[in-house]
Amino acid sequence: MTTISLSINERPIQIEAEPRTLLVQLLREHLGLTGTHCGCDTSQCGACTVLMDGRAVKSCSILAAQANGRSITTVEGLARSDGSLHPIQRAFSEQHGLQCGFCTPGMMLAAVDLLQRNPDPDDAAICEALEGNLCRCTGYQNIIKAIRQAARADRPTHSNGA
Ligand code: FES
Ligand code: FES
Repeated sequence: MTTISLSINERPIQIEAEPRTLLVQLLREHLGLTGTHCGCDTSQCGACTVLMDGRAVKSCSILAAQANGRSITTVEGLARSDGSLHPIQRAFSEQHGLQCGFCTPGMMLAAVDLLQRNPDPDDAAICEALEGNLCRCTGYQNIIKAIRQAARADRPTHSNGA
């Protein structure tokens, strides 16, 4: 067993796990954070996407031990502390960016990563950011609309009179 110390959704955690444990397994099976889904286990579907130090990563392709000392954000960490939805969650809901919801946590975290790097992405940039995330239900159009809405929501609405 190896000891892993990391921050998950801004909560410090220390946990013992076998060295071969994947990050997705640590999240789902050891910590009960089942919002992170596992659709393929082979780094293809993106359902397991989380943020590690702010960047989107596929948690099925990372050993839990590799997250030692890192900061992880899962879908459970998106909502504000007062319970209100994160802009990306609100946008997915309002734009009907999901049907079965299996891909949705990974889609939203990939989108959060994109919007942190590019607050005003065009459709091509959104598609490129989502190329590692598969959806079997929506046809992607409403997901793209949701990310556009979240980008607008994050943008300041005033111009300081300039
Ligand atoms: Fe990780 Fe599919 S479960 S990419
Ligand atoms: Fe079903 Fe995307 S909403 S896989």
